[in-house]
Amino acid sequence: MTEAALQGGLAARAIALRTGATAPAGVEEAAAAGTRERGAAQGGTLLEARGLHTYYGSSHILHGVDFRIGKGEALGLMGRNGMGKTTLIRTMLGFVKPAAGTVAVRGEDMTGGPTWKIARRGIAYVPEGRGIFPNLSVKENLLMAARAGVEGQREWTFDRVMTTFPRLSERLSHGGGQLSGGEQQMLTIGRALMTNPDLLILDEATEGLAPLIVREIWRVIREIRDTGIATVIVDKNHAAVTSLTDRSMILVKGQVVFDGPSETLRHDPETIQKHLGV
Ligand SMILES: Nc1ncnc2c1ncn2[C@@H]1O[C@H](COP(=O)(O)OP(=O)(O)OP(=O)(O)O)[C@@H](O)[C@H]1O
Ligand SMILES: [Mg+2]
Repeated sequence: MTEAALQGGLAARAIALRTGATAPAGVEEAAAAGTRERGAAQGGTLLEARGLHTYYGSSHILHGVDFRIGKGEALGLMGRNGMGKTTLIRTMLGFVKPAAGTVAVRGEDMTGGPTWKIARRGIAYVPEGRGIFPNLSVKENLLMAARAGVEGQREWTFDRVMTTFPRLSERLSHGGGQLSGGEQQMLTIGRALMTNPDLLILDEATEGLAPLIVREIWRVIREIRDTGIATVIVDKNHAAVTSLTDRSMILVKGQVVFDGPSETLRHDPETIQKHLGV
């Protein structure tokens, strides 16, 4: 993508954001001002799934799901409770084996895992309900995760995580289990960044968190996106998700019912009400 095209894309994003009525405070201005340092164009495919069918026992959960995310792309994955968002993520990351379908990471078949191998290909995962080590300190949790990215990048260091999450820097010696829910979420995201991923998957990014912390989390997600790391964001706040992402997907009962530009979805209250409305 040329510089001019990129600028045009950013301008279009800014306009789309300004017309949005219900985006959370702070998201619009900063997103409009944000620039992407690298990988803004949706170049190579990082993660792709085709025709996934997944069962838990005899319950058929995913019914032929196709999924794709490219370098630097920000994707919102939405759907009401129990529609299969987490199952889709867990299937692609190899925690669950699909009964049918394929998963490829950077073009290489990785259907069914192993999960560690998929993670080593530059994919970081912030699970629902988080997954920090409660008995390790904040600092230990972060340092344990440190490694270079797939292309040797080491942009996300301990110091950078401290700058991004000033709250964590005040809690370095606390045990992970002593943190508030919001701080735990920050630690989980910080730990994911320490692996210098190309793709960050956030399942229920802000669920159950206090409004101030939620704003902080959106700020950080936007910052991460602007550095060129691709992101998959699962969250119930469709206004926030569609204003932060390039593309949105909606799952209903294990099937994709919408996959298109987030801007299109933002201006389609019928689809939002039908599939995401409470
Ligand atoms: N380990 C499991 N064993 C059996 N059924 C499961 C398991 N995990 C999830 N399910 C079922 O699979 C379906 C999809 O669940 P999933 O967690 O993928 O949905 P979700 O879209 O992530 O929902 P939520 O918004 O509540 O997180 C639901 O009906 C759920 O009850
Ligand atoms: Mg879920």
